[in-house]
Amino acid sequence: MKPKEIKLRELHLSDKSQLAKLANNKKIWDNLRDSFPYPYSEKDAELFINLTIEENPKQNFAIDYAGDLCGVIGLIIQNDIYSKSAEIGYWIGESFWGKGIATTAIELITNYGFEDLKLNRIYAGVFEFNNLSMKALENNGYKKEGIFKKAVLKNAKFLDEHRYFKLNT
Ligand SMILES: CC(C)(COP(=O)(O)OP(=O)(O)OC[C@H]1O[C@@H](n2cnc3c(N)ncnc32)[C@H](O)[C@@H]1OP(=O)(O)O)[C@@H](O)C(=O)NCCC(=O)NCCS
Repeated sequence: MKPKEIKLRELHLSDKSQLAKLANNKKIWDNLRDSFPYPYSEKDAELFINLTIEENPKQNFAIDYAGDLCGVIGLIIQNDIYSKSAEIGYWIGESFWGKGIATTAIELITNYGFEDLKLNRIYAGVFEFNNLSMKALENNGYKKEGIFKKAVLKNAKFLDEHRYFKLNT
């Protein structure tokens, strides 16, 4: 795998069916907030793509692997005194797992957040069982800063949230 095969680009309405096909997966939903739709329809994809088209500055990107849309990664810029902080979020379609795509996408959006958006801090909240996501963050120099015990209610279970951060040094 050459990292240059992985790029971030803007989403287009022509991505709608591939986005819905990849996102409509309970194994992805199980690791994300309940506001992420499941089942994930083409209408959901269209609504999301239209939101990203309106963004200024851009915060959500398609992850493109050798010309194919394979996932989405984004930064949620915070408000008020946290305006130089952002939460990172991402998912990769199951058929693309284990190829280093999340690791590279995190690197690319972290650089974008620090260099283009001039953020000071990017952080992530990872459910207790999601070791692959923790590894992808650690691969990029993110450090675990704490565990929010039983902070998450997902699938009717309370889960620990492992919080990771990286500073723009
Ligand atoms: C978690 C997720 C983003 C990982 O994406 P990915 O592109 O497969 O991740 P990477 O290929 O960069 O791999 C990250 C680490 O996991 C390891 N890994 C990936 N798939 C693996 C597998 N099937 N078995 C064992 N290890 C695996 C990789 O080897 C790598 O570790 P390494 O650096 O020691 O080699 C992806 O599984 C996903 O989208 N899951 C559902 C949504 C989600 O969890 N989002 C994040 C919420 S915090």
